[in-house]
Amino acid sequence: MHVIKTSETLIKHLNALRKNNPVVTIGFVPTMGALHAGHASLINTSVAENTVTVCSIFVNPTQFGEAADLETYPKPIENDIELLVEQGCDILFLPDYEDIYPDTYQQQEFPIDGLDHKIEGLSRPGHFQGVCNVLHRFFMLLSPTRAYFGQKDFQQTVVAQRLAAITNSSVEIRITPIYREPHGLAMSSRNIRLSKKGRQNAAFIYRAISQAKEDVKEMELHEAIAKATQFIKAQKGAHIDYLLAVDTATLDPVQTLDSANEIALLTVVEYEGVRLLDNIYLK
Ligand code: PAF
Repeated sequence: MHVIKTSETLIKHLNALRKNNPVVTIGFVPTMGALHAGHASLINTSVAENTVTVCSIFVNPTQFGEAADLETYPKPIENDIELLVEQGCDILFLPDYEDIYPDTYQQQEFPIDGLDHKIEGLSRPGHFQGVCNVLHRFFMLLSPTRAYFGQKDFQQTVVAQRLAAITNSSVEIRITPIYREPHGLAMSSRNIRLSKKGRQNAAFIYRAISQAKEDVKEMELHEAIAKATQFIKAQKGAHIDYLLAVDTATLDPVQTLDSANEIALLTVVEYEGVRLLDNIYLK
């Protein structure tokens, strides 16, 4: 695996690949490091679908609200490199701040129809615009064929798709299914903050939303949501932040299954002090 630290070298490298092989496809997996099995599955998919896979590790300051969160963000680079090599990643791009955001760079406000202000955006003002800025920079620098995002961060996948559309980017946004721990908990770097038992127990979140997906075949959507809500609330120590069905195009809540072409059930549950995100497509 090549480790490339500047965008200049990366662009030269990718251009040489394109010159030698005009049908080369470049799969891009943007990350902030602290890689786990969920990232491994993104890399895996990209390796299977592209000639070359580039993974970036860049802890993007513009998407953090609290400076403290940014400072304490884990940076286990040796483990990350090991995981990337194991998964067959071709290039690790490790840029520094000035490379991505030179002095001349103006942060942009992308017109994404309020997708950035809804759901997670309510408690994280500026977060999704920060994500848009960094993704736009990466897409401009790398011109990837495909970019890979995990379904777990559902709102981010919708925002990335909208960003690609409004900027007329040729990148194909690929969303890979949620990678789950053996008991069913959605894989996340936050899971290590749970106790061993809590990590197993927290599978109740996936059980609740999977059951809701079954239930909507036989009951009204609001009844299925009420049942899932009750089930989660009955778990000791669990607090629901939200559990709502949304139109995946607008992220607006829906009350019935025929209100939109595609509907997902999104939830955040706080358990043992950890915010756990999960979601499932209902249709
Ligand atoms: O999901 C993440 O790790 C980040 O939001 C991303 C997509 C790498 C942008 O900084």
